[in-house]
Parts: sequence; structure tokens; C-alpha cells
Amino acid sequence: MSNQLPFSTNTQVLAQPLTIGPHTFANRLAIQPMEGADSTLDGTPDELTHRRYRRFAAGGAGLIWIEACAIVNEGRANPRHMYLNKNNVDAYARLVSEIREISMRECGINPILILQATHAGRYSKPQGTERTPVIARNNPIFEGDTPLPAKYIISDDELKALEEEFANASVLAQKAGIDGVDIKACHGYLVSELLAAYTRPGPYGGSYENRTCFLRNAFQATRAAVNSSFIVTTRMNIYDAYPHPYGFGVKEGHDIEPDLSETITLLKDLKPQLLNITMGNPYQNSHVNRPGDTEGVIRMHDLTKQIQTTFPEMAVVGSGVSFLKERSGELAAGYVETGVCKIVGWGRMSFAYPNFARDILANNFDKKQTCVCCAGCTKLMRAGQSTGCAIRDDLYNKLYKEHC
Ligand SMILES: Cc1cc2nc3c(=O)[nH]c(=O)nc-3n(C[C@H](O)[C@H](O)[C@H](O)COP(=O)(O)O)c2cc1C
Repeated sequence: MSNQLPFSTNTQVLAQPLTIGPHTFANRLAIQPMEGADSTLDGTPDELTHRRYRRFAAGGAGLIWIEACAIVNEGRANPRHMYLNKNNVDAYARLVSEIREISMRECGINPILILQATHAGRYSKPQGTERTPVIARNNPIFEGDTPLPAKYIISDDELKALEEEFANASVLAQKAGIDGVDIKACHGYLVSELLAAYTRPGPYGGSYENRTCFLRNAFQATRAAVNSSFIVTTRMNIYDAYPHPYGFGVKEGHDIEPDLSETITLLKDLKPQLLNITMGNPYQNSHVNRPGDTEGVIRMHDLTKQIQTTFPEMAVVGSGVSFLKERSGELAAGYVETGVCKIVGWGRMSFAYPNFARDILANNFDKKQTCVCCAGCTKLMRAGQSTGCAIRDDLYNKLYKEHC
């Protein structure tokens, strides 16, 4: 691991636009997908969803990566998980128009909007009361010595049908005026779990070709279904940080040492123009996923740079900078200057301080609004509540006091 992070005071480098195909990102700052668990019970954006995206829209980021949105009801992680379907596509279109109108009015920009399409897999809990996991294969790291019954393992036929569901959801996202779709392959959810399904028999497990065919097929089906200008991307766990045979991007026989050779082969196969990089699992090794120390930020930095350097043409979005708080803008500037990635996304910070992007660009970052990485937003969600910043946002501060 490198022992230095590339801070730069030249934050104006983040103001540079970036063009991919017909799309121009107004700047290099992004809102990472941040699930609010606040849709209506049928998956439609509700009052709090609109409130959150209004705040994001006014914040000035050139890219807003809309949070995890299920493609089928049984793939929702909670009863208020967003779920785009043919009955509520107009409501999503209204959310999109609202975001664009506010961004233009407040910041003079038209942000690129990507929707994260997901199946929550092992973490599916659409009713909220009991878990109804959908797993790629058993995994003792998560299940201990009581493996989940075989009925929870998704069949090959069901997987085949789901590939098309990603394409169907993407067509709806396009109809709603969204610029692109992320076929979510991270954090241990279904598609991410498939990438490391070494122990699954049949066409979706074992070899590299089999483990990656779901994602490759879903990309292909989606590209065939949408307009050529629609972005097809993925938020990918380039590294799971679990030992072989349970982790993707991990060196066999070397505990959790990273080995990005399969990740790189997969990206050569998928050829996304835009890629959002993440790693780890929020339920099991959250320090990898949401860095809470410098070591975690350096891990993200090193592995992200390996990918961006291998694919210099790709617009890589880097993650995991909120821990650096008021210095996160300087870190992001350093990332762009030194070629770690082309766009930098903030997750937890966006809940605490939705205006972080425009304040960084104006050299006016307000320390008093920064995320303190207290995990309050995660605790709220784990308590079955809608979530936001438990420290800086009165609405969620009150909810936190009541439920956590
Ligand atoms: C409450 C909460 C909700 C999140 N929701 C999502 C999500 O919907 N999709 C996703 O890919 N990542 C999600 N993340 C992860 C963030 O996008 C981000 O990768 C992570 O917080 C690390 O970045 P940061 O250091 O800027 O916070 C979530 C994180 C938190 C704390």
C-alpha cells in the first residue's frame, strides 16, 4: 500500500467538465448512491425521497448516482426500498424533472443522473418482518455453521429471467428521463455475490466465464434494449476483501490480499465508459466499504488507481472520501490531478452536508457541516427507519433519538 494520499489545494481541477459520448458532466464531483429507505410501500419516491433529492440537486454535483432501486419486488432490501416498475415510472419522471429544475435554477447545471438497479439478494427483506434471502450459493462467512436451506439458492432459470429484468428496468429508467443505469454489482448483493460464486455448480458458478456471465448477459440485454446514448454502467466491487473462494478480486491462497486480474478481465469484457468503484460489504467488513481510518482510504485509493491506470479512457468514479471530512475536497483534487480517478463521489457526506460540492468549488467548505462518520445513518436504517444524517439534519436527529 502507498503511505501517502495525494492532497492538492488546487480544488479548481474539480470544476473541469468531462465529456463521455453525448454526455457532459458539469464538474468532477458526485453524490454516491445513498439509500434513504423512504419510498412508499410500492417503491414510489415519497415525500422524504423528494426532500433528499431536492437537497442533492441544489448541492451542485455534476453527477447524482441515484440510490439502489430494486428491479423486482422480491429483490427489495426493506419495505421502503425504491422499486421502479411500469406503474410508477411517471413518479420517477417527476423526481427527475424536479432534480434537473433545481440544479439548473440553483447551480446552473444539468447533472448526469444514473439509477442504481439492484436485486438485494441475500439481504432481501421486502416485507420488513422476516428475511427472505435469495442467494447465489451458501457462504460460511455470512451463515456460520448453520447454512441457509437450499430453497434460498436462486435457480439458473430464475437468474436467466432476471438478466432481462435489468434490461426492462433500464428501459423504464430511460423513459423517466434518467441518463443511465448501473447494474449494481457490489456490496454482496445478488450480482456481486455471483461474481465470487466459485462453489456454485452449473452455468452461473465455478469458472470465471460462469461467475461473470450474469453481469455480462445483463449488460448485453440492457444495451440491446435502450438507446445508444443511454449509459450502461456498474458500481462494482473490484475487491470483496473475503478470502477465496468467497471473495472476488482476492488472491487465491493469500487470505484477503487483493488481486485485480479478474476484475480487469471483466472490465475488458464489459467495456463501460463510466465505472463507479467500491469494495467490501457494509454488513460484514464495513471498514472496507466505508473507510473510518486513513488505512481504509489508502486501500480505496490504491486499488482505484490500478483500475483507472489500466483503463485511461474510462471515466472512473472514486469512493470512500467522506472520512477525510474538510480535507476531502483536497483529496478529491489530488485524485483527479494524479489520475486516481476522473470523478470523485461522496456518500455519507452527502447526507450531512448536501451542499459540499458547490462549497468545495467556491473554496468555502464549512467544517461545521461536515460528516463526522458516526454511523448514525447506518444505525437508523438497521433500526428499520428511513435515514439521513443523525447529527446535522434535525429530522433524522429526532428519529435517531427515538429509535437508536
Ligand atoms: C446509509 C447509507 C446508505 C447507502 N446506500 C447505498 C446504495 O444505495 N448503493 C450503494 O452502492 N452504496 C450505498 N452506500 C455506500 C455509499 O455509497 C459509499 O460507498 C460509502 O458510504 C463510502 O463512501 P463515503 O466515505 O463517502 O461515505 C450507502 C452508505 C450508507 C452509509
